[in-house]
Amino acid sequence: MDKVLNLDHQARGIIKPDGKITFVKNALPGEIIEYKIIKETKKYNLGQLTNIIQKSPHRVASMCPYFPKCGGCSLHHMAYLDTLDYKKEKVQDILLRYANIKPKINVIANPIYLNYRNKITLQIKDKKIGYFAENTHDIIEITNCLVAKDSINAIIPDLKKLKINSGSITIRSNYNDEIMLIINTSQKFELDFKELSSKHKLVGVILNNKLIYNEDKFIENINGKLFQVSYNSFFQVNNYINEKLFEFIASNVTNKVIVDMFCGVGTLGIIASFKAKKVYGIENNYHAILNALVNKKMNKRSNIEFLLGDANDLISKIKDNIDTIIIDPPRAGLSQKGINAILNIKPQEIIYISCDAMSLARDLKRLKNIYNITQVHIADMFSFSYHVESICVLKKQ
Ligand SMILES: C[S@@+](CC[C@H](N)C(=O)[O-])C[C@H]1O[C@@H](n2cnc3c(N)ncnc32)[C@H](O)[C@@H]1O
Repeated sequence: MDKVLNLDHQARGIIKPDGKITFVKNALPGEIIEYKIIKETKKYNLGQLTNIIQKSPHRVASMCPYFPKCGGCSLHHMAYLDTLDYKKEKVQDILLRYANIKPKINVIANPIYLNYRNKITLQIKDKKIGYFAENTHDIIEITNCLVAKDSINAIIPDLKKLKINSGSITIRSNYNDEIMLIINTSQKFELDFKELSSKHKLVGVILNNKLIYNEDKFIENINGKLFQVSYNSFFQVNNYINEKLFEFIASNVTNKVIVDMFCGVGTLGIIASFKAKKVYGIENNYHAILNALVNKKMNKRSNIEFLLGDANDLISKIKDNIDTIIIDPPRAGLSQKGINAILNIKPQEIIYISCDAMSLARDLKRLKNIYNITQVHIADMFSFSYHVESICVLKKQ
C-alpha cells in the first residue's frame, strides 16, 4: 500500500516505496493504492494497480470499457479539463527541466474530444482484432474505439469477418467519412469489396503496400482547403486541431520568404503561401511530395516550391533570404545538422510545432541563445492519450 506522489510524462502514477521509483498506470496523485510489480529494472519498477484504498476526488469513471488495459489511451480516469491541466503541467515541467525556460502556456482545447481520430491501427493476433495491452503484445479485442471517428468504428465489425490470423489493419477516414484500409498480413484472406463498399464509403484497400481496390489516396478538407493524401502520407489525426494549426499559421505569417520544413502533403506551407511572398516546402516522403504538388495546383498556388529530401540538409541549399522557418518534425525533432543550418541562416522568426515535448525542449535549448520564445501554446491533438502538440514562436534577438 503506497501513496501516489505525482504523474510522470506518460501519465502514470509515481510512487517511491523504499526510494525506488515505480510507475503505475491508472493511479492519480494523492491516492493510496495497492499494486503488483509486473516489471523490475535497475532504475525503476512497473506496477499494475490492483486496488484503490483512498480515491482521488479528481477520479472519474472511465467512459471507455477497455481502459486501463488497452495501451492506446492513458487519461480516461480524469475529467477532460483535468487532462488539459495535466498536459500543460507536463510541457511546463519538460521545458523548465530540459531547456531551462518557463514560458506562459496557452491551451487550445479539443471540444470534440471523443470520436475525433481520423486514423487508427488495429493489431491482429490469433484472429483477435484490437489494440496491444499496456506494455505487452497481448491483444485487447475491441469493437468500438472511443477516440476514433464513427466512420472508423462502423467498419470494425466487418473487418473481424475477414478471419485474418495475424497482422495489422490501419483504417483512415476523411472529412467525408470515406475509408481507406491499409492491411498488412502474410496470410491469404477473402475480401468482399462489393459488400464492404455497399455498407461503407470505401475509397481504397492497400494490401502489403500494393493497391488491391480502387484508390490509394483520398481528399481531405480543412477549413475549405482541399488536400490529396496518399495512404502512406502523414496527415494530422485530428481535423479540428488541424484547423486551429491552419488558423495559427494564417494569422502569424507575413509577406515574407518562408520555409516549411517537414511539410508532409504541403498543408502548412500552402496555408502560409496565401500571405507569403514565397514558400519552400521540404519533405522526405516521395508520396507526400507528389500529394503536395497536386495540392499546390488544387489550391491554385504559384508561389510555393516543394523539395524532396532530408529537411535538415536541404534547407541549406535554398538560395533565397529566408525570413521565417516553420518546423513540424517527427517525434525525434531536428538533427544537429538541422539546428546548425538554422543557426547559420538565422531567420527572423521560427514557428516550431512539435508532437514531442522532450525533443522540442532539447531543440529550444540549442536555439534560445539567439531567439526569444515569445509564444507557447499546447493543442490537444491527441485527447485522452498523454501525447500533446506544442506550438512555439521564436523571434531573433
Ligand atoms: C509531424 S509530420 C508534419 C507534416 C505536416 N507539417 C502536416 O502538418 O501535415 C512530419 C513530416 O516530416 C516528414 N519527415 C520525417 N523526417 C524527415 C526528414 N528528415 N526530412 C524531411 N521530412 C521528414 C514525415 O514524412 C512527415 O510528413
